[in-house]
Amino acid sequence: MSETSLATVPGRLQSSQVCAHRGASGHYPENTQVAFDAAAALGAGWIETDVQQLADGELVIFHDETLGRTARGEGDIREMTWPEVAVLDVGSWKRSEFAGERPIRPNALMAWQAAAPDRPTIIWEIKCDDGYPTAAQRIAGALAAEIEAHPGHRCVVSSFNREALTAIRPLLPTTPMSLIVEALPTDAVSFCREQGLEGLHLDGHQLDANSAQRILSAGLALRCYTINSETEAMRLLEMGVEVIMTDFPRSEEHTSELQSRPH
Ligand code: G3P
Ligand code: CA
Repeated sequence: MSETSLATVPGRLQSSQVCAHRGASGHYPENTQVAFDAAAALGAGWIETDVQQLADGELVIFHDETLGRTARGEGDIREMTWPEVAVLDVGSWKRSEFAGERPIRPNALMAWQAAAPDRPTIIWEIKCDDGYPTAAQRIAGALAAEIEAHPGHRCVVSSFNREALTAIRPLLPTTPMSLIVEALPTDAVSFCREQGLEGLHLDGHQLDANSAQRILSAGLALRCYTINSETEAMRLLEMGVEVIMTDFPRSEEHTSELQSRPH
């Protein structure tokens, strides 16, 4: 099974089952506007993306803690300010034609979603180190303020970091929220119930039928990352997984043809 089999076997997944992981990051530079545009054009019903907080309090969509892989330079992005981050080239590492893609902030993606009724629902992943409750509260407050400033914003807030989820849960009482884990820890379902979370996001490669049943019978939504094989996607859907996060999104509803871009 090829890495791009979700992209090359149309007609099997509904839009509501497909989540573009970091945008359509298989062929486009992750977490950039061009990757989000491609995800929407390919019929993804969902987008997953990573949010971090900078030294000046601004939020930015960026996966790694450090520069070096997707942007030239070195050092911890969280020690930089937005004016410093805004000029980074986060496109050319992927392909030279994407040179000039810049990091964007969550407010830009929220405005993008609001601009058309069929834009994907966004899964925000709060990136925050464990063991720093003040930092968790700070990023939780900033993201909650952005979401509140965009009434009608369709999203799920998620994190591996339980402190961040505990901090943001009361700030957005009606927003769906999920705990992210790799394999299912014994206390994950009870944590979700106690905190009023609606879902669990797991590494799909580590999910077995027993764990899926425990999650579903607790009434929790079950979504899995990062699945680039159609066979694996089908195995998960049969176990009751609701959404497949993939680097190669494409749903049976996709109708737009991307122009001068690979897909
Ligand atoms: O949201 C789940 C998934 O994205 C977590 O892994 O490393 O791709 O952010 P990562
Ligand atoms: Ca992520």
